Amino acid sequence: MNIFCKQRSKQILQSKAGLLALIIPLAGCGGSPPQETTGRAATENDSSRATQPLSSQTSQRSEQKSYFTINSDGNLVRPTGFREWVYVGTPLTPNELNPPEAPFPEFHNVYVDPDSWSHFKATGEFRDGTIIVKELATVGANAAVSGNGFFMGDFRGLEATIKSAQYFPDEPGNWAYFSFGHDYPLAETAEAFPTAACNACHAASAATDFVFTQYYPVLRARSASVVPGPVVMDFNSRAELQNAMLAATSAIGEPRAETGTSPGEVPTELDALFEYLNDKEYENFAARESALHPSRGPHANFGSPVRVFMSDNVAASLEAGNDFHPVGSSIVKEMYEDDGETLQGWAVMVKTQSDSDGGNGWFWYEVTSTTDPTALGGGEAGNGIPLCTSCHGSGSDYVLTKFPLE
Ligand code: HEC
Ligand code: HEC
Repeated sequence: MNIFCKQRSKQILQSKAGLLALIIPLAGCGGSPPQETTGRAATENDSSRATQPLSSQTSQRSEQKSYFTINSDGNLVRPTGFREWVYVGTPLTPNELNPPEAPFPEFHNVYVDPDSWSHFKATGEFRDGTIIVKELATVGANAAVSGNGFFMGDFRGLEATIKSAQYFPDEPGNWAYFSFGHDYPLAETAEAFPTAACNACHAASAATDFVFTQYYPVLRARSASVVPGPVVMDFNSRAELQNAMLAATSAIGEPRAETGTSPGEVPTELDALFEYLNDKEYENFAARESALHPSRGPHANFGSPVRVFMSDNVAASLEAGNDFHPVGSSIVKEMYEDDGETLQGWAVMVKTQSDSDGGNGWFWYEVTSTTDPTALGGGEAGNGIPLCTSCHGSGSDYVLTKFPLE
């Protein structure tokens, strides 16, 4: 995972503070009560902040202004005044339905800046320059005089997404995603997350241009074709969804489960595996792609030549269209330099238990060297690497290669 992962790991390092801010509440669960929950209402009503005009290239109507500020480091300054923007809906993911704690706890109050709202109302599209904020709040009580239910408690964090061709020309849809943490005081600025952490799920499942309009009745009203349910649900179970959310909010290159012992012929112990790969023992597999083809994934770069070899059991399972593949399913992907001759490494998947368990049942390894087993392609070697499972979660039991093999 060359360019792709180098950029990514750089971004991950850069966003460490942001990730930590997200991990702490996940690990601490509960933690200290957010402060300044009432005092903040006054300060956030200051909607005159962050009103820099967009560049003339992106601003189509002169009265449209920008409601966000990107500072000189390229980071988003925490938006204020958003509680006076247009409120579009409140998805609720109570912790009790997502134990021990929902990735984004619990009420999600979503606001769109007023000019982008006007534009959306008129066109059904999000203008370049849109900012959408999601402010989190806890469930404070489960009963009131009106009945049993979920009643808002304290504020519990702030996320935002921005569509900007000027600032994020390389992000899908030009949308970048930010978190100011789930603990108070919130961070003053936030770095954009790597694409795979947030944007990938929005790309897969959101109804309108990466935005989950299906869950916001105010926006949904604009288009009869947007229905309240999931529009494209690439995630087969809540476990997988939670898995992908965790990928967004935890160390995405580290294993989440014990490294399984290999039940098949491809070893999961690092030295033995590297020797196996160098000896090309996987050439025993009858199921294989007939020739190199340009990679459709980040292995090692999008477009560079790759070739996949599969154990018989996984090939038979794919052939049968099974939802889950058997223990011992093993796949090796050769990754070549652009010359199509020099091998530059391998990506490997081995299913070490029958329960896929949100990707934890698969062992993952990618190496971008034929001499150094520790030249990793992004993630560590191990079971349940969120970096790998977040993308592969949309495959057939995590397998993404086109079948029948080309
Ligand atoms: C597994 C899928 C998934 C991942 C990963 C994900 N989101 Fe979302 N996001 C959702 C869903 C579903 C909604 C709407 C419902 C809700 O809020 O629960 C949403 C809504 C949002 C919204 C409100 C605007 C909109 O597009 O609907 C923001 C802002 C947001 N997410 C930020 C983030 C950030 C920041 C990350 C990465 C740290 C992230 N999301 C990762 C699924 C995801
Ligand atoms: C950005 C999305 C993405 C990420 C992240 C990702 N992959 Fe993949 N992977 C793909 C796609 C797409 C394919 C199929 C590509 C093709 O056919 O050219 C693939 C194919 C593979 C294959 C061949 C078997 C199969 O599932 O099709 C292996 C093995 C593999 N990836 C391993 C890994 C490992 C290990 C990681 C983590 C270090 C990882 N992948 C991370 C998108 C991704």
